[in-house]
Amino acid sequence: MAIQWFPGHMHLTQKAIAERVKNIDVVIELLDARLPGSSANPMLAELTQGKPTLKVLNKQDLADPERTVQWLAHYNSQSGTRAIGLDASMAAPAKALVKACFELAPNRGGMVKPMRVLICGIPNVGKSTLINTLTAKRAAKTGDEAGITKLEQRISLADDFYLYDTPGMLWPRIIVAKSGYNLAASGAIGRNAFDEEEAALELLDYLKTHYPALLEARFKLTGVAAMTDELLLEAIGRQRGALQGGKKVNLQKAAEIAIYDFRSGVIGRMTLETPEEFAQWLAVGKTLDAQRQVKKDAIELDRKIRFKKVPRPDLRSSR
Ligand code: G4P
Repeated sequence: MAIQWFPGHMHLTQKAIAERVKNIDVVIELLDARLPGSSANPMLAELTQGKPTLKVLNKQDLADPERTVQWLAHYNSQSGTRAIGLDASMAAPAKALVKACFELAPNRGGMVKPMRVLICGIPNVGKSTLINTLTAKRAAKTGDEAGITKLEQRISLADDFYLYDTPGMLWPRIIVAKSGYNLAASGAIGRNAFDEEEAALELLDYLKTHYPALLEARFKLTGVAAMTDELLLEAIGRQRGALQGGKKVNLQKAAEIAIYDFRSGVIGRMTLETPEEFAQWLAVGKTLDAQRQVKKDAIELDRKIRFKKVPRPDLRSSR
């Protein structure tokens, strides 16, 4: 079953961003380096159309370094876009951010034309942590509860550099099924909004194909690539002692272990999508979404005809 999640406050956030964007020079979009495509927000692109954008691949310490290079090259080849990788262990991320923003909007700077930057990102992508580091104090609350709303704040990174933090959440309607699972695995989706066993099976399905050696080393297994997802989950549960009623594996517990180990990076540095894979998933997702919309429109038209809100189309005249 595809994952959908609605953290709320969307309308207000949308309005706040639309208002703020008028006086913004550069938009920083924080992405999760392990799932850059899935953690991007198409609605943000619509709202900020035309503004130079800095894509920050955050949590790069958890991502596959080779794939991060691919994603950075992918974004850097787009016009009006630059991309950098960051993670919380970097002592002074401000320097890289400021430099990239001035490259994107070279006409800004100085007290008369200060650089005005809007920072956005989906829940749990590490925005509060980054802002805390940038301000060198506990300015924004961090935590793992996805979807906590905050008030807009302006942070001065230099006399002529203002960073605006967006309030609330701008959450995409998930049209790529795989994105839903990747977002769930990363911790971006509230834990009650998805089935852990299902998300773990999807995660293992990808990892056993792309990172079999890391899985085998972490869970002391062999031949994971040839296992079914269900058998692999069971083997992980058994190896970690997640048992119930004798010898039966507690699959819920096993799923939690697999997801937790992925999130914390103890299995190794892994990325759940390449630019090419994501482009393919998106194309399929858009086609299915368009088909769903056609069906929805037909049902809505039928409902209106039945309740006589619109006249029945005269099919004879169109013959
Ligand atoms: P948000 O404001 O975007 O919602 O995210 P937040 O900063 O609260 O970060 C979410 C979780 O991600 C936190 O972990 C935080 O420590 C972790 N995190 C942020 N940036 C990085 C990074 O670059 N690398 C890694 N590995 N982790 C990062 P948590 O377990 O929820 O909380 P905590 O116990 O670490 O405070």
